Amino acid sequence: MRANRVAGDAGEPGDPGSVLWSGFPARKVGLVGAPVGLQPSKYVQGKWRDGEFGQTRAAGLQVVHDGREVAFRLEWECARPVSVVRDNDEFADAAALLFPLSESAPLMMGAEGAPVSLWHWRADRGKAARVNVAEGIGTSRLQGRAVGVETQAVHAGGRWSVVFRRVLAPQGAGPETVSFAVGGRYRVAVAVWSGAGSERAGLKAFSPEWVELELEA
Ligand code: HEM
Repeated sequence: MRANRVAGDAGEPGDPGSVLWSGFPARKVGLVGAPVGLQPSKYVQGKWRDGEFGQTRAAGLQVVHDGREVAFRLEWECARPVSVVRDNDEFADAAALLFPLSESAPLMMGAEGAPVSLWHWRADRGKAARVNVAEGIGTSRLQGRAVGVETQAVHAGGRWSVVFRRVLAPQGAGPETVSFAVGGRYRVAVAVWSGAGSERAGLKAFSPEWVELELEA
């Protein structure tokens, strides 16, 4: 898909409700439940073997950039939003974008020596996304010196829409930071957690195929 270039004064891409977004069709991304057999804990495998998780079946993805910043807008159906958590058996809605940090990084949380970068929004946290690095299932950790990814989220009409926004190429970006250039080609995958369905960590819906992305010159 194409990340359309927008003029700096075209609207506010950081706002998921901005009129700017209505000008670009969303790419429909199919989601499936993360395989229960890949869950790293035997307890989780046993408890969720027949359980239903990964209930979110699809998300809409839009991407724009203005030559300085890139903004990803993800939208999905969520009839029972959870953005406040009162106990440790309650879970908030969440979404994440996954970017390979090396050519060979597998979509499923990366692999040893082939890391992925994760931008993670959670409805019960503030606007700053957590940026994680993972080299395989069960290895995700906060990235040190991560460059700020800002999020803004709205739940309306039974749907979440969340924008993730960051400068294209952060200064001094190391190998753990995904860097974008105008005209460049990238891959991205998405995951969505439904808090009402007790989804968290490996229990989630994810896009099993890469979305190819080209930043319009
Ligand atoms: C598009 C694909 C995916 C994305 C964007 C993604 C994203 C993430 C993020 C952001 C976290 C950290 C969660 C937190 O700190 O609460 C996480 C954790 C986890 N993910 Fe994924 N994930 C993806 C695919 C998968 C798949 C297919 C599995 C297979 C079971 C999986 C298993 C796990 C597990 C077990 C954890 C918890 C342990 C850890 O933090 O490493 N993920 N994932």
